[in-house]
Amino acid sequence: MEHFARPILAKTLADGLQGRAAFGDASSGLFLSAPRRTGKSTFLQLDLTPELESRGAVVVYCDLWSDTKRNPAHLIADSIANELSKHLGIVARTAKSMGLEEVNLAGWMKIDTTRIGKIDGITLTDAVKALHEVAKKPIALIIDEAQHSLTSTLGESAMTALKSARDQMNRPGRFNLMLVMSGSDRDKLLRLVNSNGAPFYGSSVQQLPNLGLEFVSRAAALIEQQLPARHPINVDKLLIAFNTLSCRPQFFASALGDVLNPLNPSPESCEDRLVAAALKRLADDEAHMKSDFLALRPLEQSVLWRLLDQGSHFRPYDADALNFYAEKTDERVTAQQVQHVLEVLRTRTPSMVWKSARGDYAIQEAMMYEWFAKLNQAGAWPPVGPERPLPRSTPLSRLRDRARRSQVG
Ligand SMILES: Nc1ncnc2c1ncn2[C@@H]1O[C@H](COP(=O)(O)OP(=O)(O)OP(=O)(O)O)[C@@H](O)[C@H]1O
Ligand SMILES: [Mg+2]
Repeated sequence: MEHFARPILAKTLADGLQGRAAFGDASSGLFLSAPRRTGKSTFLQLDLTPELESRGAVVVYCDLWSDTKRNPAHLIADSIANELSKHLGIVARTAKSMGLEEVNLAGWMKIDTTRIGKIDGITLTDAVKALHEVAKKPIALIIDEAQHSLTSTLGESAMTALKSARDQMNRPGRFNLMLVMSGSDRDKLLRLVNSNGAPFYGSSVQQLPNLGLEFVSRAAALIEQQLPARHPINVDKLLIAFNTLSCRPQFFASALGDVLNPLNPSPESCEDRLVAAALKRLADDEAHMKSDFLALRPLEQSVLWRLLDQGSHFRPYDADALNFYAEKTDERVTAQQVQHVLEVLRTRTPSMVWKSARGDYAIQEAMMYEWFAKLNQAGAWPPVGPERPLPRSTPLSRLRDRARRSQVG
């Protein structure tokens, strides 16, 4: 499906970043959260970036999930260094041809011409300032999946360095460094702003609006244009399907492709089939989470349950938590066992638990919180199934689990 542009949203956010909005403090950093696959990266790259560029800014985009094996701090440094080396290109070439080994920037910073493209010689803060000096334009730094920086001490320090660069470069009414941080999970992104020691303490996290009626209406218009026999398309039903798919355009496009495929004819209307396909997808997602949960050992289930229930208040080893695990598994549970379980849940594929460098835990996929809340409200938590039952383990299942644990070592 072709890109559906959101120019008004991009303009509004860019105004905020430039301190032109009547309300809000986006000029000190814009923190945007939206659930997985709802179009964050697309919006940041295809809508916000050109809008900021059209206002004269140099935009540096860095996705911290682009290579999860690399430290987030290095990814950020590389993005800035790449941009810096583009702008330093002419300056450096001239310096080299004159036999100079260093470029002197605005009299305050010397850059080794042989190391351009790396910023290991200077701090991240200085690199951002250097980029501004060389480009002679305001810098907009967009960090996608910014919460990932918190999983390492280096990553967290990089965020603090950016905050410091912002404070040094910006003046009231003059914003030379605009910071945009996005994340798939509001709770994790909040950890960048909501505690005294957080790098951007005092800023707030906003929800990036989902695509909605306008996007769906555009899809309906395209169908009517390309398949006139389907005219008129029932937009309300399309919107129900899109919302059921949690506003994820890719899944919507794929379901639409299926129901409009001439090789899949049906007497039912394409809109009804689309709604049915969306409901099936929702059921499949939930079934998947259920089977992942039930496949865990009883103690793993109870730790995950506690984390789902407590959210950001989760304290894995306090007395209440240990009592909770003991009650659910019918066994005495030690803090050491819980620590081991959290590590297993964090490192398994796919990972179920997220851990920050400071030792805070969260559920990896925020969608799981919604699933938990839904079942809890319906009185259907914990899920039951043939895999591994909770709450009570039987003597036989306890023996089996002990045997398994001893095999795992
Ligand atoms: N405005 C849009 N118009 C059309 N398709 C879109 C739009 N935004 C996103 N998509 C499609 O939705 C899918 C997910 O988009 P994107 O990667 O931007 O989402 P995301 O929220 O960054 O995902 P993730 O959580 O995995 O990082 C992609 O296939 C993309 O092409
Ligand atoms: Mg993304």
